[in-house]
Amino acid sequence: IKESEDVACKEVASDIARLIIEKQKKGKTAVLGLATGVTPIKIYQELVKKHREEGLSFHNVVTFNLDEYYPQSKTSELSYYYFMHHHLFDHIDIPAENINIPDGEIESDKIADYCKFYEEKIDAYGGIDIQILGIGRTGHIGFNEPGSRQESLTRLVKLHPVTIMDATREFIREEQVPRRAITMGIKTISKARKVYLLAWGEKKAPIIKEAIEGGISEEIPATFLQNHPNVSVMIDSDAALELT
Ligand code: F6R
Repeated sequence: IKESEDVACKEVASDIARLIIEKQKKGKTAVLGLATGVTPIKIYQELVKKHREEGLSFHNVVTFNLDEYYPQSKTSELSYYYFMHHHLFDHIDIPAENINIPDGEIESDKIADYCKFYEEKIDAYGGIDIQILGIGRTGHIGFNEPGSRQESLTRLVKLHPVTIMDATREFIREEQVPRRAITMGIKTISKARKVYLLAWGEKKAPIIKEAIEGGISEEIPATFLQNHPNVSVMIDSDAALELT
């Protein structure tokens, strides 16, 4: 439990910078799993600051985003493609070919092959070193909504009505929120060597309690992280309000 979102995000950004520098010294690639939403924004601000002020280079970084709405055009300001470029990629020196975000423009008959390719690409880079996660009020991580299986991989999913409602803050009207998304699965996420699960504010307190103190179940997909050997849950005191 951190004193503030700022402190937590600085800590995560420093860990990411440490990984990148360590890999650079060995001539290797750092593989990051990234989330969108309001939760990780300060991590991205901090990484941009480290690039500008401390010369942190991202030339050896490869990123895989968790999810993208489907269908969703890249040029839409509501796409996760736009979000990531706006908050991070446009401000650092990561090579464009190192950026991977599920493609919301893929034709529907190509989705299955595309998802398989996304999984294989993560594996080809040796897996994710650090995975950043937020949590939805349904207990989703990525867009793995209740009912998602522990063995699930990257796939097309339906969004939960609560998730659609929460997304209306971005989309203005509920009818504008896409009903589906392409998301990494629970198994994809669980293969990451280090996971940070982050949550700020009172609204997340009930689901944080269930994720940490509840039994492991498909009903709250974030509970699957209890099986992971290297997870840090970083929350502020408001998100911790309901913990016993
Ligand atoms: C986003 C994602 C989602 C969000 C979650 C919390 O890429 O995978 O699981 O992390 O919905 O969203 P915020 O941070 O907006 O509360």
